[in-house]
Amino acid sequence: PADIFPGRANSKGLDLNDAATLNATLAAVEEVGRQTYQATALVSGQPVTGTPKSVTRPANRSESVGSVVEASADDVKRAIVAASNAATGWADTPVEIRAAALEKLADALEDNRLELIGLCVHEAGKTLADAVAEIREAVDFCRYYAINARQQFQPVALPGPTGEYNELRLSGRGVFACISPWNFPLAIFLGQVTAALVAGNAVLAKPAPQTPLIAWRAVQLAHAAGIPADVLHFLPGGPEVGAAITAASEVKGVAFTGSTGTARAIARTLLEDDSRPIVPLIAETGGLNAMIVDSTALPEQVVNDVVTSAFRSAGQRCSALRLLIVQEDVADTILHMLKGAMDALTLGDTADVRTDVGPVIDEASRDKLMTYRESMKAQWLHTVEAPQTGLFVPPTAIRLSGIEDLTQEWFGPILHVVTWKAGELEDVVARINARGYGLTMGLHSRVAETADRVKALAKVGNLYVNRSMIGAVVGSQPFGGEGLSGTGPKAGGPHYLLRFANERTVSVDT
Ligand code: SER
Repeated sequence: PADIFPGRANSKGLDLNDAATLNATLAAVEEVGRQTYQATALVSGQPVTGTPKSVTRPANRSESVGSVVEASADDVKRAIVAASNAATGWADTPVEIRAAALEKLADALEDNRLELIGLCVHEAGKTLADAVAEIREAVDFCRYYAINARQQFQPVALPGPTGEYNELRLSGRGVFACISPWNFPLAIFLGQVTAALVAGNAVLAKPAPQTPLIAWRAVQLAHAAGIPADVLHFLPGGPEVGAAITAASEVKGVAFTGSTGTARAIARTLLEDDSRPIVPLIAETGGLNAMIVDSTALPEQVVNDVVTSAFRSAGQRCSALRLLIVQEDVADTILHMLKGAMDALTLGDTADVRTDVGPVIDEASRDKLMTYRESMKAQWLHTVEAPQTGLFVPPTAIRLSGIEDLTQEWFGPILHVVTWKAGELEDVVARINARGYGLTMGLHSRVAETADRVKALAKVGNLYVNRSMIGAVVGSQPFGGEGLSGTGPKAGGPHYLLRFANERTVSVDT
C-alpha cells in the first residue's frame, strides 16, 4: 500500500558494511573523541553563564566529552517569559514556514551525521549501529512531522445541515515543555521538539542530564535552520529544572518520555494550581514487555530476536524485552541456544565497531541493575563476562516462576524467563495485560490463529509478530504505549501532532 503521505521517504542512514563508509564513520567518532564540547543552556539563543559540569564517557569515565552549564532557576524564568512573548507570533506563522524549517533541520542533521554519531557513541555509550539508527530516526521525525503538519494544519471547511460556513483550524497551544530521556538523546529529544514546533508552539526543551551535548548541537542546528531563537529555548539540567518548567502556569502542554513515576509527578504538578489551565500531558513511559514463544516458532529466529530485543542497546530501550514466556515443550532447546548466543555477544567500548553491547548510562543505573542481578543469583540461567572498565552490566537471563514475579522494569540487559503450557495462551496474555503496562509485546508462532488471537487480546501499543521488539520505524510503526506505559498518541504516527494543538471551530452565518 502507498504511504498515507505520498512521496514521503525515510532517511537512508549509513551502510556500515561498506568499508569506505565505515572508515569515515570511525574517523569521525575518533575526531569527536578529541573534541571538548562546551555546551550551555540557551535562552533566546544566548549562552548562559555558570559553573560547567563535566560530561564523561559511560564506556570510560576517565575520558571527557565536554561540559555543560545547566539552566539556573533564573534562566528558566527568562526562557518562559521569552517563549510566552514569542508563542503567538510563531503560532501565526504559516505552517509552510514552520514545516520548511523542520525539513532544513533534517538536511542539517544528515550533513552533520558523522559528528552526531560520534556524540551518540561517546556521550550516550551507543554502539555504532544504534548511533546510525538514532540519527536516521531524528531525520525521519523532522520530515514526517513537516509533511504531516502541512496537510493537517490547513483549515478544514465543514459544510453540513446548519446552513452556516463552519471551519475547523488547528493552532499552537502556546509554550510547550519537552522533557526527554538519555536513551534516545537525539531522536526522542528532537521528535518531541519538532512536533511541538511545527504545531505552532514555542518550546522549552529539557534534555536528560546525562546527555546534554548532542541535544545542544541539535538546538544549534535547529536555530540555524530557521527556528527563531525566542521560540526554542534549551534548558539542560536535573529534576529541579524539569520541576520549575512544569510548575510554570505559562506552560500549556508537556511532552515527556521517561519513567512512569516521573510522568505521574508531572501530572500532579500540572493539576496542583486550580487557577492554571488544564493542559495536556503526552507521556511515553516504561513497560514490562513480554514475548510469547510457542512450540511452532523457529528457534534460530526466536533466539536472534530475543538477543536483539533484550540485550542490544544494553537493554536500554523502553521497547526492550524484559520477560520471555516460552512454551515448555521447546524451552530447553531455546534456552540452550540462547546461552550460546549470549556467549557470542561482544561487550566493550562502543567506539569499536565489533561491540554488540555497550555500557549502561551511569553509575546509578549500573549499581541498581547490579544489585538486583546479584539478588537474583540463585535463579540465573546464564550470564556472561563484562569488561571491568566502564559502566558495564553483564547480559543475564534469570528464571522466574511466574509472570507476576516480575514486579518492575529493569532498564538494562536483564532478561527474565518463564514457561507456559499448551492451552494457556489466553491466560498468558490476560496475565500480561493485568500488569497494567502496555508498551510492546512480541509473539513467535507459525500458527496464524495464534497470532490472530494475540492481536485481538493484547493491550499494547506495539505488537511484534515473528520479529524483534525494538526499532520502530517512523511513519510505518508509530510508537507508544497505553496504561502505565503512556498516554498516547504515538510518536511517528499521523495523530501525534493533534495533541500539540488547540482545535478551534469558527461558524459564520452567511
Ligand atoms: N522507539 C524505540 C524502539 O522502537 C523505543 O524507544 O525501540
